[in-house]
Order: sequence, then structure tokens, then C-alpha cells
Amino acid sequence: MSDTASITLNGNTLELPVLTGTEGEKAIDISKLRDQTGHITLDPGYKNTGATKSAITFLDGEKGILKHRGYSIEDLAEKSTFLEVAYLLIYGDLPSKETLAKFRSDIKGQMMVHEDMKNFFAGFPSKSHPMGQLSCLVGALSAFYPESLNPNQSQEEEDKTIINLLGKMPTIVSWIQKKSLGHPVVYPKKDFGYIDNFMNMIFGEANADKVFDDAVLDAMRILLILHADHEQNCSTSTVRIVGSSNANLYASISAGINALWGPLHGGANQAVIEMLEDIKNDGGGVEKYLAKAKDKNDPFRLMGFGHRVYKNFDPRAKIIKKACDDVLAKLGVNDPVLEIAKGLEQAALNDQYFIDRKLYPNVDFYSGIIYRALGFNSEMFTVLFALGRLPGWIAQWKEMRDNKEPIGRPRQLYIGEVDRVYIPLEER
Ligand code: CMC
Repeated sequence: MSDTASITLNGNTLELPVLTGTEGEKAIDISKLRDQTGHITLDPGYKNTGATKSAITFLDGEKGILKHRGYSIEDLAEKSTFLEVAYLLIYGDLPSKETLAKFRSDIKGQMMVHEDMKNFFAGFPSKSHPMGQLSCLVGALSAFYPESLNPNQSQEEEDKTIINLLGKMPTIVSWIQKKSLGHPVVYPKKDFGYIDNFMNMIFGEANADKVFDDAVLDAMRILLILHADHEQNCSTSTVRIVGSSNANLYASISAGINALWGPLHGGANQAVIEMLEDIKNDGGGVEKYLAKAKDKNDPFRLMGFGHRVYKNFDPRAKIIKKACDDVLAKLGVNDPVLEIAKGLEQAALNDQYFIDRKLYPNVDFYSGIIYRALGFNSEMFTVLFALGRLPGWIAQWKEMRDNKEPIGRPRQLYIGEVDRVYIPLEER
């Protein structure tokens, strides 16, 4: 017999089904609540609300577990490639050797971006933020591929759109970097892989390919994999809800990029480095900043700390911290903010305020230090998060469509004025 939950309203009791996920998670199905009782549930920030059933990512915030399609993030980060993880997320299973080879070559074949897209760059002020440029350019792809606007695309057509976006995103990101420097773009190379192509377009020159240390390429691989999906977070929920109106993939991902930009979400990686720089310029002591973070009258928060779901170490942060030590040591980079970050982490982990609220370092705490060691400026950090998150957004958009989910449309509890009489200010 399946579990039920009962709710009693005005003397009437309603039995609500209790659903159990494959990892044992429980959910009370309230989808018929309003029809049967006239009541809705209220849950600002959706802290307790499951918006969908999903088979892509599982995370247990209490235990610090993250798995994609049943594979642990630790295994994937250590042993797989970014495109393998992308395929796994989007299509549900790891690819065979042949399928992976085709997936790679299809994506490589779509890395060139239409030259007319360059015209957009001329219109951006030279100091415009890379995330604004990225969302604009990804949205603009729909203008170049109008077939993507058809919400009834065949599976084959939808796959083409997916491959197109996976191929073009690194190129677009590299154009944004080049624009920030005023340098000419570097085109993708046929004989390069996904990550070395991306890094070459970022750091190479038109007639001089750049050769990267394996440690650099591996750090980039790990970072992209660690960001690849994280179930129903703010940007992913945005992608799903925009897509639920049958908006095309480019428009949906562009919306997700904007949601990611905020400093409470993906924008935290830029904010962390800026915070660490502030601490350094202020003499390096962390106590003042801890006190500010705890002061309820001060809007300052410890960036890179805390998470809606993790009430234990973010497993991604553990992997990133080690990768950070490794890559800095291999590259011989001595970044003073790394020591400040470690001191701040220790101080926060031993502070009662952070202990009581179960606030731990999240994925953004150390990632910026690696990006900086690789040569990126801080405004590019969230764009790199978006590049990593792209397969997850695509997978979630596709799952929502495959499951024919209804248009996303939350309700509200109206608390405004009731029945006011309009008195005209002047005669019409
Ligand atoms: N510094 C100081 N206090 C904090 C912090 C922090 N970073 N995070 C949470 N708190 C406090 C908060 O003030 C509240 O205290 P109280 O119970 O006394 O009112 C309590 O902890 C619970 O916080 P909340 O804001 O209700 O929690 P939330 O789930 O709504 O917010 C969060 C989650 C990630 C937005 C928040 O922890 C935060 O602002 N962190 C800093 C920004 C950050 O690093 N974001 C990256 C998130 S991970 C990457 C991603 O996927 O986006």
C-alpha cells in the first residue's frame, strides 16, 4: 500500500498521495489540492516545493552527495571527459566509444559561428559585462537558426539545435574574451578537442596556437564537469519555466544565463575573488569580514559560503579545493588570496554562527582562484560557469519537453487592496 498524507480543512479530510523517488526521497503530491479544497500552498523561494520529477541529477544536501544519472560526481570528475558528461546528462546514459566519437565530431563541426554575429560586438560598450553579452548572443542564435523556433521539432532537428549550441557556446565565450581585450578572434581548429580548442580561442592568437600544460587542460576539464548540472537551482528552473511556454532552446538558455548572473547564484564566483581582494587590500585579516557577515544590519554576506540545499560540505567544493592546490602548485603560481581563502574558510567553519546555520564553502569559493591562475579575468568567471552548466540546462529543457510538462505558472496569495473606487483626476 502506498503512503498517503492527510490534510484536514474546515472539517473535511483529504488524502494526498506520498511519492517516493528512487533514492528514497519523499514528496506529498498536492497537484489536486486546489481543485479539491480551493486552497493553494505558499512557499516563497520554493524552499519545499518540488517543481518536477527528474531523472537527471540527485543530490543529498545533508550527506553532501551529488550524482548525475546515478554516477557519483567524484567518479565523473576524476575519470570522464566533459563531452561524455554532457552526453550522459542530455541523453541519459554514457555513450559508447562510437557514439562519443560522433558526438564529438558533430559538435566540432558546429563550432564556427556566423560572421554576422560579430556585428553584435561592435554595439557593445568595451566594458560591458561578459554575462550580458553572452545572454544576448545565445538568444541571437535563434535569429540565425529560425528552424529552432518550431516547438514541434523532430528529435533529429532538436538534436541538431542541441549540437549547434554545444558547438557554438565556447566560440562565443572566446569572442567575448577577445572583445574585452580588443584583440582579433581566433577561430576553432578542426584537429583540436573541445577544451583545447576553447582555451586556444581564448588565449591563442590568430596565427599562433597556444600549447597548454596538461595541468591547465585538466583543471578546465574538472571545472566544467563540476558545473555541468545541479538539479532545480535558480537558473535551471528558469530554463525549464521559459521552455515550458514552448520557447526555443536558445531563448530558454539565454534566460538561464541571466538567472545565473546574480551574485547569489553563479555570479558568486566573481564576487568571491573581489571579496578576497578587498580583504587582502584591507591587510588580510578575516575577522572583520566574518563580523560583517554575521551582522544582520550589514548587507555583506560571505560570498562562496552557504547553499540552499547543501547543509554539509558541497562535494564539488572539496574537489575544487584539491584541484586548486594541484594546479597552482603545478603552474608555480603563488596567489596570496589562496591563503586568505583558506584562513577565512577555517575561521568560518569554527564560528558558531556558521556552525549553527550549517554554512559551508560552496562550488564558487575556490573556483575563481583556479580561473585566475589559468589567466581569466574575474568578469569572465560566471561565463565559465555558464559554459560548464550548458549541458545540464539542455538536459533539463529536453526532459521537460520529453515529459510534456505543462506551462510553468505558480499561483499567489493576493494581499493587495480590495475594491477601490476610481475617482478621475480630470475629465477625458
Ligand atoms: N554569509 C552570511 N550569512 C549567511 C550566508 C552567507 N554567505 N548564507 C546564508 N546565511 C545566513 C542567512 O543570513 C540566514 O541567517 P538567519 O537564519 O539568521 O536569518 C541563514 O544563513 C539561512 O540563509 P538563507 O539566506 O535563508 O538561505 P538560502 O537558502 O535562501 O540562501 C544562498 C542560499 C546560497 C543564496 C546563501 O547562502 C548566500 O547568499 N550565499 C552567498 C552567495 C553564494 O555563495 N552563492 C553561491 C551558491 S552555490 C553556486 C550556485 O549554484 O549558484
